[in-house]
Amino acid sequence: MQGGTDRERLIRQLVAILPNERSPRVLDLCCGPGDVGRAVRARFPEAQVDHVDRDEFFLALCRAVNQREGLTHRVVRGDLWTSAWRAECPGPYDAALLANALHWFNDRRLLEILGEVRESLAPGGMFAFLEPASPIADLAAPHAAWLAAELPGASDQFNRDWADFWQRLDEAMGYEYYENVVAGLPPGEEFGAEDGLHVTKFVDLLREAGFREVDILARDAFSVVIAALR
Ligand SMILES: C[S@@+](CC[C@H](N)C(=O)[O-])C[C@H]1O[C@@H](n2cnc3c(N)ncnc32)[C@H](O)[C@@H]1O
Repeated sequence: MQGGTDRERLIRQLVAILPNERSPRVLDLCCGPGDVGRAVRARFPEAQVDHVDRDEFFLALCRAVNQREGLTHRVVRGDLWTSAWRAECPGPYDAALLANALHWFNDRRLLEILGEVRESLAPGGMFAFLEPASPIADLAAPHAAWLAAELPGASDQFNRDWADFWQRLDEAMGYEYYENVVAGLPPGEEFGAEDGLHVTKFVDLLREAGFREVDILARDAFSVVIAALR
């Protein structure tokens, strides 16, 4: 489990808003172990799902779980730091879904990725994602104070969920795999958004990338679910 206890509900929300087609073509971007793509298949047994990630360990996990569940999804290696990933996933897709990975890129690359995802969608296709969200800098302190008063310990728990997951991964691999491999960056690139993960920034970048409609479907103290239509 990565990303806290609300994660499965939010992933179901990503899947619930997919258009009701018999066999949609769906891209699970930065799939990790592949839960998002398998949630799609749970709703649409005839969906064609492509999982893409750059990490060989997560890809192997994804393949192994799919095999255990008798699922014949495509599982391909693609690194979203360059546009080359698109050659592996030419589309057109009815939808692209992503959970908890856009914050691994900086603003420059994020805008490019959003354009590339848009290009991989059929006209009318949807990009929907679940990401951590944070308030703008001016609101960070009062927001943190409100959170501590209303939901004591929730912030620590959220961070601990992630830290525990990465620690278990390191233990399984026998070395600092997260630091050395999963979180590796191309030369000269920065990790993460420059000034936080503001919901309005996601919306602005989606519009700049050319999506015609953008909606915020859920926002709580930690996360946001956003959908955009090509
Ligand atoms: C926090 S995990 C989320 C995994 C999955 N979406 C989930 O919710 O379980 C982030 C994932 O993004 C992948 N990732 C990070 N940078 C990437 C890149 N440049 N290209 C492709 N995948 C990347 C990581 O390998 C990891 O599997």
